[in-house]
Amino acid sequence: MLIRKSNFAEHYPWVLASIIVFAMALIWFVFASLGHSEWPSGSSLPGFTFGVMGGFICLFEFLIWPRKKLRSWRIGKVSTWMRAHIWLGLLAVPLLVLHTGFRWGGPLSTTLMVLFLVVIASGVWGLVLQQFLPDKLLKEVPSETIFSQIDYVSDLMASEASRLVKSVCNIKVDNDDGGELSDDEGRHLVVGAVRSTGAIQGRVVVTASLQESVPDSKPLYDFFNEHIYGFLKNGEEARSPLAKSIRATVLFNSLRMKLSPRAHEVVAVLEDLCNQRRQMILQSKIQFWLHSWLWVHLPLSVALIVLMFVHVFVAMKYW
Ligand code: HEM
Repeated sequence: MLIRKSNFAEHYPWVLASIIVFAMALIWFVFASLGHSEWPSGSSLPGFTFGVMGGFICLFEFLIWPRKKLRSWRIGKVSTWMRAHIWLGLLAVPLLVLHTGFRWGGPLSTTLMVLFLVVIASGVWGLVLQQFLPDKLLKEVPSETIFSQIDYVSDLMASEASRLVKSVCNIKVDNDDGGELSDDEGRHLVVGAVRSTGAIQGRVVVTASLQESVPDSKPLYDFFNEHIYGFLKNGEEARSPLAKSIRATVLFNSLRMKLSPRAHEVVAVLEDLCNQRRQMILQSKIQFWLHSWLWVHLPLSVALIVLMFVHVFVAMKYW
């Protein structure tokens, strides 16, 4: 969820309500501790009240999961739930700290508190990432590919580029079945390219005819085998200098100088493919960071809820 100056009005009531509840809780806690040598514990009236409030907030926080899964539920918009999730989750921190009376307690309550703090920290981390990574994706990855298809598209790029280079360098071009190409069959390549239409930029499929061979294009063949093929197929794992755009520009420029101008069009296609491959690498990284924190936040929040019930049960039993 984005929190911007432009949409802060929607967050404002939640922020204000959380600050007011926090201030009231703090005042009550301080008054209850006057004249006592220790802070009020979890079983004192204010401590118990803050525990119940914090516990219900944690339960509510957890309900965002079924709410998001069951979009047909008509209980408020997901965006309203998300705002409540963020600000009530943050409010639960001081409430539950006051509930503890600044003591860790036994192993169970300590584990519960640590779990709670990790869930909160991962939530804040995820929220921070959500503030700038989607923007970065939009600006720096105009040729965004369906995430699960990245490996498949990379393989396709590498094999199509290979066919193109072999054809230009006059090396026998095979079709997928290993046979030589007939006149019409497979004489076209499918190369993805980034194109703009008005304000919209995206990836389109371009079909290009296999080029006539260009004499003296051995440097292209060598460069392709040394740097391009592995990079298109395996991305960063190939440890190719083409992974850095400035380095790639220098290398492609020096390659052009070694080739006849008739081969320059092919070099431009290969450079464009490498550019798209770099975008796919960046896309994978951004998507990893956008989602990976949930692997901490979600399972630990399940553990938190389970342990919270155990904590309530144990606390009630020995009260
Ligand atoms: C006791 C505290 C909390 C619990 C139990 C909790 C639990 C959850 C659960 C179960 C989800 C759903 C995961 C999913 O979509 O697969 C979620 C999502 C999320 N939580 Fe929390 N959470 C807590 C506190 C917080 C806090 C304090 C923040 C931020 C300040 C936060 C930020 C988020 C965000 C950004 C999402 C992802 C929503 C999205 O898909 O865009 N959470 N949380």
